[in-house]
Amino acid sequence: MTVFQVILGRRSIRKYLDKPVEDDKLLKILEAARWAPSSRNSQPWAFVVVKNEETRRKLKELAYGQDFILQAPVVIAVCSKKGSNWVNLGLTMQNICLEAYELGLGTCIVGWFDREKAKELLGVPDGWEVAYLISLGYAATSPKSTRKKLEEITHWEGW
Ligand SMILES: Cc1cc2nc3c(=O)[nH]c(=O)nc-3n(C[C@H](O)[C@H](O)[C@H](O)COP(=O)(O)O)c2cc1C
Repeated sequence: MTVFQVILGRRSIRKYLDKPVEDDKLLKILEAARWAPSSRNSQPWAFVVVKNEETRRKLKELAYGQDFILQAPVVIAVCSKKGSNWVNLGLTMQNICLEAYELGLGTCIVGWFDREKAKELLGVPDGWEVAYLISLGYAATSPKSTRKKLEEITHWEGW
């Protein structure tokens, strides 16, 4: 698969097979996350990998019942150093999602959850915050998505 094929093929997955994610795949995904660019190479991120079912159940509750967080065998809590620009997180999360897709896995970024309670649950230290969750597992669906037309979002030589 080319990078372009991966970019076009990735979808947010909200239904997962009851099948664990192999550790070598998980490590490769985290390695892809590690190599994301960041402002001044600050790398203001840390990842809490959650496989434990009880913790995933609690995370699901903190995410207002979004069911796939419990269904996915792995949830990655993407943490940010307080005060850092979340653009950096976007890049590392995109690396996670694209590498996962290349390895045959599905992901969904979750931004709708109680960040304070998630921080407490996961024991994230002061100076850090839980910015996003990413569910990870083998997809049980192939959802479609849409995008705005290129003409609608692109301006050549000025708006
Ligand atoms: C910052 C961010 C936060 C998101 N939060 C949620 C979320 O809380 N729950 C959810 O189901 N999807 C969430 N998504 C997934 C988006 O809904 C999804 O990317 C978008 O609808 C486009 O669909 P696609 O990823 O399948 O192309 C989030 C995506 C991003 C980038």
